[in-house]
Amino acid sequence: MVAANPIQPRLLSTFLGDCRFFPSDSTHSLRRLFHFTSGRDRVSMQASRTFSGITSLLFNRSTQKSADSKRNRLKPGKVSPLRPVPSDIPRPPYVKSRKPAGIASGPEIHDEKGIECMRASGKLAAQVLQHAGTLVKPGITTDEIDQAVHQMIIENGAYPSPLGYGGFPKSVCTSVNECICHGIPDSRALEDGDIVNIDVTVYLNGYHGDTSATFFVGDVDEEARNLVKVTKECLDKAISICAPGVEFKKIGKIIHDHADEHKYGVVQQFVGHGVGRVFHSDPVILHYRNKERGRMVLNQTFTIEPMLTVGSINPIIWDDNWTVVTQDGSLSAQFEHTILIRDDGAEILTKC
Ligand code: MF3
Ligand code: CO
Ligand code: CO
Repeated sequence: MVAANPIQPRLLSTFLGDCRFFPSDSTHSLRRLFHFTSGRDRVSMQASRTFSGITSLLFNRSTQKSADSKRNRLKPGKVSPLRPVPSDIPRPPYVKSRKPAGIASGPEIHDEKGIECMRASGKLAAQVLQHAGTLVKPGITTDEIDQAVHQMIIENGAYPSPLGYGGFPKSVCTSVNECICHGIPDSRALEDGDIVNIDVTVYLNGYHGDTSATFFVGDVDEEARNLVKVTKECLDKAISICAPGVEFKKIGKIIHDHADEHKYGVVQQFVGHGVGRVFHSDPVILHYRNKERGRMVLNQTFTIEPMLTVGSINPIIWDDNWTVVTQDGSLSAQFEHTILIRDDGAEILTKC
């Protein structure tokens, strides 16, 4: 069992709680990995092997420049106190429950009423993301972005899905430069030349809508611009092949092929997911070439959210148990949409 690890039990329990953590060298099936019982030992072994002791190394090097030596490595800032949500706004079931986050079994397939709810939550998530993007400029802190996102979501009668999800302390993820995903908004001000992914998920009328984009802060160099452009192209290409009966593994192939063409890496340990009544459910969407089985179904909703890197694709998790950065400090970009499988292809639910 998990608690048996004497070295870093806190770190391990978070890996078990992070639905999107996916041990890439696993020979087990995806389904087995994400079952709360049978998958645990496997995940904990992987986590202890890969991550024990690495976080302290990271902090010793935190003043070093990143791999490309143009920017300082990201460091944790100060996280502001919890933001309240009005009591009349319905919370997702995981809030206040001590249950670790995870991938629920069973896909999200909707009737007409459910589709309308998914359209509404997707639209709100897209609008919030668009608004957050307009705030991105040198000097604004990621905490201020969190404040704005939080406010807009509750003003619209929705709950910010990340808040309290597996203990996540804020209402949005803000992932700067080498941060691959799950960055916690804090007191760090965005700097000219940074890139920042903002990942918004809203829970509206019992349905989650999940979307993210990577934004430029001021004047961004050519390398970063190109990474962001190619990452967006990967998402768009993947969406373009989605339709009923299409194999999920085609998503991984088209993304990986396009990233290869531009010599970028594809992060493997974090994955897309079914989304709907549940924040993270089957199927697991792999962004890299794979041989997994499974096909898309009419009226199914899931996310595609490729993360591409300039250098290492290996993640390191900070001591906050959330922030995921590249091992070598090289840049990472991500885009995400929630899509609905229709007869004639994919409908993007999180488009403005
Ligand atoms: N929105 C993220 C996703 O794309 C999940 C964030 S979970 C959080 O799946 F707890 F980190 F917010
Ligand atoms: Co997602
Ligand atoms: Co997301």
